Amino acid sequence: MKEKSSILIIDDEESIRDSCTQVLEKDGHKVTSVSSGPEGIKIFKNNSFQVVLLDLKLPGLDGMEVLSRIKKENPETYVIIITGFASIESAVDAIKRGAFDYLAKPFSPEELRVIVHKALESRKIYFQNLSLSEDLEETQGFDMVIGKSRPMQRVLDVVKRVSASLSTVLITGESGTGKELLAREIHKHSPRRKAPFVVVDCGALVETLFESELFGHVKGSFTGAHVTKHGRFEVANGGTIFLDEISNISLNIQANLLRVIQEREVTRIGSTTPIKVDVRILAATNQDLAEKVRMGEFREDLFYRLSVVPIDLPSLRERKKDIPLLANHFLQKYSKRSKKNIKRISPEVIKALKEYDWPGNIRELENTLERAVVLSQGEEIQLQDLLYHGIGSRLSFLHSSEGKYKTLEEVEKEYIERALKDHHGNRSQTAKILGIDRKTLISKIKKYHIQ
Ligand SMILES: Nc1ncnc2c1ncn2[C@@H]1O[C@H](COP(=O)(O)OP(=O)(O)OP(=O)(O)O)[C@@H](O)[C@H]1O
Ligand SMILES: [Mg+2]
Repeated sequence: MKEKSSILIIDDEESIRDSCTQVLEKDGHKVTSVSSGPEGIKIFKNNSFQVVLLDLKLPGLDGMEVLSRIKKENPETYVIIITGFASIESAVDAIKRGAFDYLAKPFSPEELRVIVHKALESRKIYFQNLSLSEDLEETQGFDMVIGKSRPMQRVLDVVKRVSASLSTVLITGESGTGKELLAREIHKHSPRRKAPFVVVDCGALVETLFESELFGHVKGSFTGAHVTKHGRFEVANGGTIFLDEISNISLNIQANLLRVIQEREVTRIGSTTPIKVDVRILAATNQDLAEKVRMGEFREDLFYRLSVVPIDLPSLRERKKDIPLLANHFLQKYSKRSKKNIKRISPEVIKALKEYDWPGNIRELENTLERAVVLSQGEEIQLQDLLYHGIGSRLSFLHSSEGKYKTLEEVEKEYIERALKDHHGNRSQTAKILGIDRKTLISKIKKYHIQ
């Protein structure tokens, strides 16, 4: 979609003013044009323009002077210089003094359109970045939302320190807290970022297959081994291997893994020749590995090898402060994906999200917003868009905002409102869905003063 904006043209040549006005108005912009510098400054001070087209050669007050007054008045105005070929040098000078770009005469309507569009886009991005920069300042280049909560700031500190090193990192945290995402960030911020990041799900395969998956096998080493296979460690050579759900591996494979970590080499099943590998190991688990060590289910030496740097990701309950930021992140992600133009999350929804406990952590929050985006029909996510999810029924629907139970009448009223809304106010359909007749519905609508 094209941006519609207010544009000011300052040029003493009438034909330029007229043709530019015509082109830009046709694109839906609001255009004002004047023929001199003083006039331009006066009108600029009393109005709000996003873009100014400014001729450098003006009678009376020189264009360069007009530029600096405009920039002084409002530095966020994008000024496009109009100039003759002979004076491109001064246009370049103007850019040094804060003009956005220049347009050399003669120019086509298309050139004008493109440059104005470019200015408006840059302006938009500038403002978007401005509002985001506070959240981003510390987390440049991170895909994952870090947020301001204390526990996540600590995580960020550690990540920054270990990314560049070769240390093995053990990431712990409940399901859905972002362990895999964090592992990817660590890889992405390491000198190995261009080399492979290989994920191994340690719970997915039976033991024999898993062993060959990790270390590879040579042809004929067991039934079914028709060809020689490279293990995941070889594939990850030069890069990072992420051992997800590490607590699931058998004691036998734990022993092999320990050897890989100590010797930095792997031996394919059925072979006796070790192969050197240069792999950084990251591991994750949502179980208490230290407890597993005590139970004799996990090797203590491997545990210490893996947890050289332990990072514990907080549950979402422990970082409720970050919920608005995360929710907005997912809102943007999914409204973009579904090509819906949903701009906000209502304050009641944010409140409900903050009151909920999130046993499924960020994954659950993400799913909730994905669903809400699908259900939402306006520019704002509202409570009813959440009602289909546990959070809606557990909190907002049955409980009033103070956390007390709602009365049956309150629930009935809300339920009717929601059903009506879902059926675009069609009473016959709504009555049918609710299993009552139309007359009863109408009397309830009256009773509860439903609009
Ligand atoms: N900080 C974050 N910012 C944005 N998205 C996040 C964040 N943390 C997690 N997510 C999203 O939540 C979902 C779950 O994350 P991830 O798979 O990394 O969690 P996990 O801890 O590995 O979960 P599990 O233990 O169930 O494997 C993913 O879709 C991920 O993109
Ligand atoms: Mg995971």
